[in-house]
Amino acid sequence: MLSTPRVLMCPPTYYGIEYEINPWMDRRVGSDPARSRAQWEALRATLVDLGATIELIEPVRGLPDLVFTANAGLVHRDLFIGSRFRFGVRQGESPHFEKWASTHGFRVLLPPEGLHFEGAGDALFCGETLFAGYRFRSDARSHQWVGDTIGVEVLPLELVDPRFYHLDTCFCPLNAETALYYPGAFDDYGRSVLADRVRDLVEVSAEEAVTFTCNAVVVGRTVVLNEAAPKVARELADRGFATRPLPLGEFIKAGGSAKCLTLRLDGEEAADWKRATPAGS
Ligand code: ARG
Repeated sequence: MLSTPRVLMCPPTYYGIEYEINPWMDRRVGSDPARSRAQWEALRATLVDLGATIELIEPVRGLPDLVFTANAGLVHRDLFIGSRFRFGVRQGESPHFEKWASTHGFRVLLPPEGLHFEGAGDALFCGETLFAGYRFRSDARSHQWVGDTIGVEVLPLELVDPRFYHLDTCFCPLNAETALYYPGAFDDYGRSVLADRVRDLVEVSAEEAVTFTCNAVVVGRTVVLNEAAPKVARELADRGFATRPLPLGEFIKAGGSAKCLTLRLDGEEAADWKRATPAGS
């Protein structure tokens, strides 16, 4: 590893299921505040144990999904491209994330008005390329704008299953050549693009995909993910990756897991630009 991983998280003080904007959310089921806190703390402690520095953004009452910092924006070197959320209930998060980024050394840019973009939830680097999910949340045109702005190739992938509404729920780059994916979340074209462009594509079964197995945080060669993915854990072990399974069920009730609860500020492990320019520079 070239740098100390830096990760943005938001304490779950005001987290809850207050509206329903994806098929996982059910206000009648709700979430348990004490369990949510314990699960979030365990995720934070695991990342610290793996050598990460955790930066915290202040939670805000009335913004229950602010905990999902992956949706704050997309980081590329010192640039923070802020999100434009599709649903009004999340739009109030943007000024908080933008303020945080601009006061922590990032240049902040926003996609043009009228385009939706949900940050690192839908835009993931694998090697030199930005893999970009669209339809349920982000617009394909916002990804093209991001690609033009930072000068990288973008591969737009249409998401077809509403349960996998963000790309990070069904695709997880582990390094520049390896990624996890759930084939059922993509159409034939998307599957063929992935097969062409990722050398070692590890298929996740439907049973493990619905436990948010693809929504994993990669630190070096360790993959932190929701418990209940024994098959993927074996596939990863064969490739020299360790897994750290954690109970994250309280967040799955909102349609998120380990990856959604984090935003890598120094670039994801799989991003080639990260290797070219060590973070902190
Ligand atoms: N309830 C949130 C939403 O529907 C969950 C966001 C999960 N984030 C992610 N990066 N997949 O927007």
